[in-house]
Amino acid sequence: MLLSRVVKRAILLTTLTSLGLVGCGQESPPTTATTVSSDTTGYNLTLDTAEFMAHVLEPIADVLWKSAGWILDENEGYYELYPTDDEGWINVDNHGAMIVEAGNLMLLPGRVLEGPWSTYAQATSTVGRSIMKAAEEQNKEDLFQAGAQLYSVCTACHQAYNPDILSRFQPRSLTE
Ligand code: HEC
Repeated sequence: MLLSRVVKRAILLTTLTSLGLVGCGQESPPTTATTVSSDTTGYNLTLDTAEFMAHVLEPIADVLWKSAGWILDENEGYYELYPTDDEGWINVDNHGAMIVEAGNLMLLPGRVLEGPWSTYAQATSTVGRSIMKAAEEQNKEDLFQAGAQLYSVCTACHQAYNPDILSRFQPRSLTE
């Protein structure tokens, strides 16, 4: 939306300039739509997909996977990972929201690949919403289900785009 507004403004400016209505006696500003749009998207895409995964998405998901389920510990037996107080549930809620937005980040122009990419990115956001709902209701079972769905979405996209990473992708929180 911003982009189209900028482009429209550029076109308007070009028209006004060519009509001699603005910029009298000055250097004409770079008003072609191409220059304006590539300079003003404002997106910083210096993280490539692997960096986005390793530094953004996985750390968020790890917090969630560490907050759902049970652990069998040699010494302590089974113990629950679920939040035990409001603060813990708020932390899960916040990380669910980050997953919603991480789905959007995968949809930025320049990040989207051909094929089912957008479907998986959108599914990521949808699952993030389910995580938020479970956290707001402090519903352990729903949180567990949503955590499992999140793992399925990650795996499905990796399967589609880079089956090789399935062997590398072993979230720390699931193996600890
Ligand atoms: C829309 C598709 C998509 C989704 C959804 C997705 N990934 Fe990825 N992921 C990729 C691709 C493609 C790569 C390979 C990037 C490369 O090596 O260039 C990757 C690589 C990775 C890597 C390896 C990064 C590295 O250092 O090489 C990790 C870790 C990872 N993803 C974690 C996750 C987690 C956790 C989720 C879910 C919460 C997830 N991904 C969801 C597409 C996706």
